[in-house]
Amino acid sequence: MRKKVSIVGSGNVGATAAHWIASKELADVVLIDIIEGVPQGKGLDLLEAMPIEKRDSHVLGTNDYADTANSEIVVITAGIPRKPGMSRDDLLNTNYKIMSDVVSKAIQHSPDCILIVVSNPLDAMAQAAYKLSKFPRERVIGMAGVLDSARFRTFIAEELNVSVENVTAFVLGGHGDTMVPLTRYSTVAGIPVTELMEPKRLESLVQRTRDGGAEIVKYLKTGSAYYAPSAAVAEMVEAILKDKKKILPCAAYLDGEYGIKGLYVGVPVKLGAKGIEQIMEIKLTSEEKAALNKSADAVKELVAVIGV
Ligand code: NAI
Ligand code: 2OP
Repeated sequence: MRKKVSIVGSGNVGATAAHWIASKELADVVLIDIIEGVPQGKGLDLLEAMPIEKRDSHVLGTNDYADTANSEIVVITAGIPRKPGMSRDDLLNTNYKIMSDVVSKAIQHSPDCILIVVSNPLDAMAQAAYKLSKFPRERVIGMAGVLDSARFRTFIAEELNVSVENVTAFVLGGHGDTMVPLTRYSTVAGIPVTELMEPKRLESLVQRTRDGGAEIVKYLKTGSAYYAPSAAVAEMVEAILKDKKKILPCAAYLDGEYGIKGLYVGVPVKLGAKGIEQIMEIKLTSEEKAALNKSADAVKELVAVIGV
């Protein structure tokens, strides 16, 4: 039997994630939204692309959670995106209300699923989904680090004129202005990037990574990025469905790891069939640790506002 992935919110990120997942034939996809007609139209359109793509993934658009029943993974992209001048944090209260609505409905029909949270502000929304679902922490994962590190990898590859495949990069912390791109653990074909670039140049790429979401919002004006975010979702879905045990930066509920307790923050995790199978604790310098703590404090402030 084919696996089933449901995506709540069939806007830009949700529909494009459905596209990647179906075109990679990772699973059958159910797209759900509160707007009537949009998930049905996008779902059918994608389904009709499958013969051309030579893929047998089934895609269904719906407004009825019954259609999402027994999903292996539920991806939550429902919520409002930011517009120019807005920070991710400006979305907090609106998206928390939406999260409360969708989590209860989704888990009622898929009590054993793994939740991948995408809605912003990411770390606080992941924490909200964790508390609302009462799932074990292994099964509630936030998507941000895969996107942020892909941006960093893109900028490094362009700067050095090398294949993106050669570049690995790590970004820790919350998905916000305080995220912590780790230059020490970023490499090109195994060579630390710090040996290949002047510190000043590297720092400018770090800053561009921190501002990566805002850079796209500035161009789009009516919404935020979705191609790279949805590709990041598809990579996480693939790691879970294929039990790849892939080490990826994700927002995870920390229970003392990195000296942080009771909070979602971006860290490297091992993703497999059970969801987060291990939180990888890497050694940080005191400077990196301070940056991670600052980022965690920013998440803590948001979490306190919504009381989760
Ligand atoms: P969008 O506006 O294109 O789509 C959001 C969809 O959610 C809309 O179709 C809307 O009707 C739906 N929705 C709203 N309330 C709902 C409810 N109660 N139940 C079901 N569906 C509901 O927005 P986009 O660009 O797809 O972004 C979605 C969210 O993801 C935003 O909060 C955005 O900030 C966030 N995001 C997070 C990223 C990350 O790295 N974690 C990256 C990109 C976006
Ligand atoms: C991004 O980083 C909006 O969080 C989203 O593009």
